[in-house]
Amino acid sequence: MSAKHIILIGPMGSGKSTIGHLLAQRLGREFRDSDHYIEERTGVDIPRIFDIEGEEGFRQRETRALQDLVRLDNLVLATGGGSVLREENRRLLKENGFIVFLDTSVEQQMERLRHDKKRPLLQTENPRERLEKLLEERRPIYLQLADLHLRTDRKYARKVAADIIPLLPEHLRRHG
Ligand code: S3P
Repeated sequence: MSAKHIILIGPMGSGKSTIGHLLAQRLGREFRDSDHYIEERTGVDIPRIFDIEGEEGFRQRETRALQDLVRLDNLVLATGGGSVLREENRRLLKENGFIVFLDTSVEQQMERLRHDKKRPLLQTENPRERLEKLLEERRPIYLQLADLHLRTDRKYARKVAADIIPLLPEHLRRHG
C-alpha cells in the first residue's frame, strides 16, 4: 500500500510546523501537529505534562497521539523531535507515511529557539550542549527513517515547502 501521509521529522527548531503548514496549504491537505494534538487532548501544555508525568509520561502520550493521527486521511503531519526514539513509533510512521527529514544545524536551532520556554528539554543551563547531544543521538535515526532528506538552514520556509513538492511521490503530490 502506498503511504497516505506526508510526515515531517527532525529536531526542535527545524521548522516542521511552519513548513508543514505551508506544504499542507499548497497541497490542499490537512495539517496536524502531534504536540498540538497532545495539548488539545490533555488540556495542558507540554511543559506541564513533563512536570507532572515526566518525559516517560509524555512519550506515552506521544505514541497514543501518533496512533490516533495516522488513522486520519491524507495529512501533512509534523512530529515532535523525540518521536523517533521508540521503535513502535518508527514502525507506525514508516508504515503510514512518506517521511521527510528536515535537517538543520545546532547553530540554526539556537537562533530559532534561543528564547524558547515551551521545550522542557531546553530549560537547562546549557541548551546548546543539550541540542548537540540530542542531534548526535537522533540524527542517525532521522536519516535511517527518512524517505527524503532536506537541509532547512538559512532557507525560508516557503522555499523549503516549494522544494519538497517536486520530490514527493506522484500520488502524494495530487491534492488531498
Ligand atoms: C521534543 C520536541 C518537542 C516536543 C517535546 C520534546 C524532543 O517538539 O515534542 O518538547 O524530544 O525533541 P518539537 O520538535 O516540535 O519542538
